[in-house]
Amino acid sequence: MKRSSKSNPDQTTGQGGELQQQAGAGHPQLTTQQGIVIPDNQNSLRAGARGPSLLEDFILREKITHFDHERIPERIVHARGSGAHGHFVLSKSLKKYTTAKVLGETGVKVPVFVRFSTVAGGAGSVDTPRDVRGFAIKFYTEEGNWDLVGNNIPVFFIQDAMKFPDLVHAVKMEPDRGFPQAASAHDTFWDFVSLMPETMHMVMWAMSDRTIPRSLRMIEGFGVHSFRLINDKGESTFVKFHWRPQLGIQSNVWDEAAKLQSADNDYHRRDLFEAVEAGNFPAWDLFVQLFTQEQADQLPYDHLDATKLIPKR
Ligand code: HEM
Repeated sequence: MKRSSKSNPDQTTGQGGELQQQAGAGHPQLTTQQGIVIPDNQNSLRAGARGPSLLEDFILREKITHFDHERIPERIVHARGSGAHGHFVLSKSLKKYTTAKVLGETGVKVPVFVRFSTVAGGAGSVDTPRDVRGFAIKFYTEEGNWDLVGNNIPVFFIQDAMKFPDLVHAVKMEPDRGFPQAASAHDTFWDFVSLMPETMHMVMWAMSDRTIPRSLRMIEGFGVHSFRLINDKGESTFVKFHWRPQLGIQSNVWDEAAKLQSADNDYHRRDLFEAVEAGNFPAWDLFVQLFTQEQADQLPYDHLDATKLIPKR
């Protein structure tokens, strides 16, 4: 049971091994991921010259295990996304409400990254199905990264995270046939909706033109949840975040969306890429809806219920 040392110890490792500079040795050595120097990672241990590979060969197992795990699994939801870098500039200070510099100091250019997504389809699915669009922003502030995750609809399907896997299983492809992809027009989704009356508000939004946007540059974004701002006196104010596209909200009609789907699977990704490349940078205004605990107490429902919105006066 010998490992052949025929192969080249200088090869780069890629899967499983590490090339390490050994102290004093002066030349790189091939090691396992735990740092054990090995002569090669090209020949497995066998029971006899032509015998079966042996499980005790931890180098083989490490290399194969590493290889089996080198793909990051696709996200269950929001797998299909397109993003862009940009910046955020505050025009009106919220210093009165928060100590966060990004919402206090006006005129500062804060780098951001935005990722738009569909929810139900896989990473390789089309851009134009009727679906909620994700609108996730990462602010790279000098105080740390701030993620503001949103959708293009101000409410959500459910009130309890416990139901999220059931909602997502219902909207994803039916399990016995693997279709339809990226679409809510099928039985398991409508079974779920029929059994969960709290979905009705979001369903009304989801069945509107809003879920067949003309362009990612023309969608709104909503943080949905109420967040809390705290100022330097420790006083708290609730806040909801709304993004409004400077190009206005625009949608396709269903017939257009269906035609685009057959003509260009990457319709929204292409539109965003080409607009940015041409220097037609999309822009949004960020608005806040601020309210106090006393105002929240006046509402006939809990403002933490994601199926409700707070009407604008
Ligand atoms: C019970 C409520 C919810 C649960 C349990 C939930 C769960 C998840 C999970 C598991 C992911 C995938 C994360 C990943 O694999 O990287 C995700 C992504 C996402 N969710 Fe939710 N979600 C909920 C509600 C919401 C709401 C209300 C919004 C809108 C404000 C939202 C917007 C998004 C977006 C935009 C992404 C993709 C983020 C990105 O592009 O990186 N979700 N969610």
